[in-house]
Amino acid sequence: MRRAVIVRDSLGPLTSLVPVFTGAGFGKPVEVESVEALVAAALDNSADLLVLPLLTPSQAELDDVETLLRERPSMAAIGTAPTANSDLILAGFRRGLSEFLVAPADSAELAAALARLESRWERAPKGGHVTAVYSPAGGAGVTTVAVNLAHALALRKPAGRVAVADLVVGLGDVATQLNLAPTYDLGELVRKLDRADHESLHSIVESVADGMDVLTGTSDLELGEEVTAEAVQRIMTLMRSSYTYTVLDVEHTVSPRTIAALDGADRIVMVFQVTVAGLRKVKRALALFGQLDFPVEKVVLVANRVGAGDVMPWPDVAKALGRPVDFRLPNAYQVVADAQTRGVPITANAAGPGAQALIEAYHLLAVRLMGQKGFVTGSNEVLPTARAGFGRLLGKLRK
Ligand SMILES: Nc1ncnc2c1ncn2[C@@H]1O[C@H](COP(=O)(O)OP(=O)(O)OP(=O)(O)O)[C@@H](O)[C@H]1O
Ligand SMILES: [Mg+2]
Repeated sequence: MRRAVIVRDSLGPLTSLVPVFTGAGFGKPVEVESVEALVAAALDNSADLLVLPLLTPSQAELDDVETLLRERPSMAAIGTAPTANSDLILAGFRRGLSEFLVAPADSAELAAALARLESRWERAPKGGHVTAVYSPAGGAGVTTVAVNLAHALALRKPAGRVAVADLVVGLGDVATQLNLAPTYDLGELVRKLDRADHESLHSIVESVADGMDVLTGTSDLELGEEVTAEAVQRIMTLMRSSYTYTVLDVEHTVSPRTIAALDGADRIVMVFQVTVAGLRKVKRALALFGQLDFPVEKVVLVANRVGAGDVMPWPDVAKALGRPVDFRLPNAYQVVADAQTRGVPITANAAGPGAQALIEAYHLLAVRLMGQKGFVTGSNEVLPTARAGFGRLLGKLRK
């Protein structure tokens, strides 16, 4: 039975909500008088869920909750406030909270939040979490998203380390964007794959700031043939056992190794720009994912460079794609170009017009990928949930 500890009155009167908790597999929630008592109770009795108000606690109390959530990845927290203020909600997510509810809480909304948490607990990957960043078109921003998403994940200080791995054979750009001249790269790993372990992986990757490691791509075209679907699967298994979060920069070409990366990942972040050609390609990629029987919720649609001459309004984009766009990364050409010239992630304090909005969007994307269902306001939309089975095309492509 799951245990919830609740700061008194944070959800409003509890009596009518107790059946919602028990119906969702919780025992009767334990009520405490303060956030301090909440942290103490969670430490003493290892709770699964904490519920706390976001407006009244001090920064120090919220710091304690943040530390607790970071140290206990399976513990979740719901923040509440009398109104849905987006700054407050975002600040809560930055501290590692999973859900937000307006108090007094509505039974149906509480039930929905508990169901989302349950599916997150069930989905919690064994080993680390892998995100494949992919675009069916070149130049859409895959490398930029992979590097900055990995860095935003690292900044959230998960229990283990974070890596970005460049699976591009030929002209992989992760090293370029981070201004690295690594001694070893993907090629070295592929050569040693039969006997590769944590130690050899760690001797190949380059550590950059903020707890992020980088596996750079190989420019050795002859080795390209050795980067097979099986090699990619083995690399992913190795990354999963070494890193809490791995972000892959995947090639655009639909090859067996691309499919292996997309298939093996927990999430696919599909990046595109809102142009007629871009949308057509995304639609075709979504159809391919459907044939591969990837679950719909595995794919996170991310529109990049939003605001730079978008060709159609969002409802029309959703109609064209058959589903809404999940995230929008604003266009900030100078900010991105400056960071890439300096060889640092945008998320490492980039400045200038539009920098803050872009950094914030990357943080929200990181929150979503950490399995915390973002209560996403304003320019971003909510992920649909539907499921498909598993299919045959993958086998054909792998042959
Ligand atoms: N949010 C943004 N605002 C403005 N420019 C951006 C943004 N994101 C990426 N860019 C720019 O878009 C260009 C393409 O980005 P990037 O190299 O990451 O794309 P890619 O999909 O990896 O390309 P390739 O097909 O070459 O691998 C770069 O010049 C980058 O600076
Ligand atoms: Mg690239």
